[in-house]
Amino acid sequence: MLRGRIVATGSYVPENVVTNHDLEKIIDTSDEWITERTGIKERRVVNGDQATSDLAFEAASIALKRAHLRPKDIDLIIVATITADMAFPSTACILQDRLGAKNAAAFDINAACSGFIYGLHIANGLIRSGIHTKVLLVGAEVLSKVTDWQDRTTCILFGDGAGAAILEATKEKRGVCSTHISSDGSLGDLIRLPGGGSRNPCSKETILKRLNYIKMKGNETFKVAVRTLEELVTRTLADNSLEPSQLSLLIPHQANIRIIQATAKRLGMPIEKVFVNIDKYGNTSAASVPIALDEAVQTGRIQDGDYILLEAFGGGLTWASSLVRW
Ligand code: COA
Repeated sequence: MLRGRIVATGSYVPENVVTNHDLEKIIDTSDEWITERTGIKERRVVNGDQATSDLAFEAASIALKRAHLRPKDIDLIIVATITADMAFPSTACILQDRLGAKNAAAFDINAACSGFIYGLHIANGLIRSGIHTKVLLVGAEVLSKVTDWQDRTTCILFGDGAGAAILEATKEKRGVCSTHISSDGSLGDLIRLPGGGSRNPCSKETILKRLNYIKMKGNETFKVAVRTLEELVTRTLADNSLEPSQLSLLIPHQANIRIIQATAKRLGMPIEKVFVNIDKYGNTSAASVPIALDEAVQTGRIQDGDYILLEAFGGGLTWASSLVRW
């Protein structure tokens, strides 16, 4: 049976660091509050002219080099993002051109913070069915440009970055063992960006109402996230007939350290077996899981044969997980 195997990863974050102390100067907050409630100490923010495809290009180029592949070897590019360079062409098409990946089909997907694992679901499905063999999957975001820097309840949370993975078809018993994706559109109001689409097209009025920025009901989102993720990780292990002790690493979406701790506790996993980098980057939405995955690989936290569990929760609402054998 064919399955997708992640043969290489790459990631990129902008150089510009914004610390909690920097935020203390522009909004009514404190390093202590942000650290205690979220686990975030700093985040990366692009300079003015950098867009999502620029970050995606850097991460993808690293992953391609590590996979010893040329861009023209890739037959599909998927970019997961909620901060596309523009409505169209897709960021994936812009990336395809920049890479010179002439033989690839390219499209974007929007599943907010769950986007990378949704992408893994699609990529793995297309590989299993024999339709594609070499897929470049990227999660990339420039959230700083849709963040309301006057809203202390959201602006402390987000950061910019990109992560990439290359999947190849394999007949070995390793790679993506399972993917699980879910949605609940009835809770879409909890986190959204209402302006700039066909409902509230960009206008002087939408700008004045600040509809071009992320709105979030943080506390309600938090409760749904904890409940949903606890159930999701338990189901993912059960579907693979695995015990939590057989997992080498949990790689969660980096939204809030308290959500991560609650999920780990539910699995009975010691925090040493959970990958955490929220302190450095904040919540980078679709980029969060692939950046964490890449850092885990590069720092030797994942070895051949390891079982790792990826999970995420985000706007839509959407949630997703994947069990991967490295
Ligand atoms: N600095 C200082 N105080 C702040 C603050 C800030 N940056 N932001 C909010 N507060 C205040 C609130 O005004 C409130 O004050 P009040 O009690 O006087 O009304 C108090 O802190 C508590 O606010 P609350 O929203 O209940 O805090 P919280 O513990 O829920 O933490 C979040 C807020 C946003 C950190 C948390 O809810 C969260 O992480 N939510 C989920 C995020 C998420 O998963 N997003 C979607 C998936 S990507």
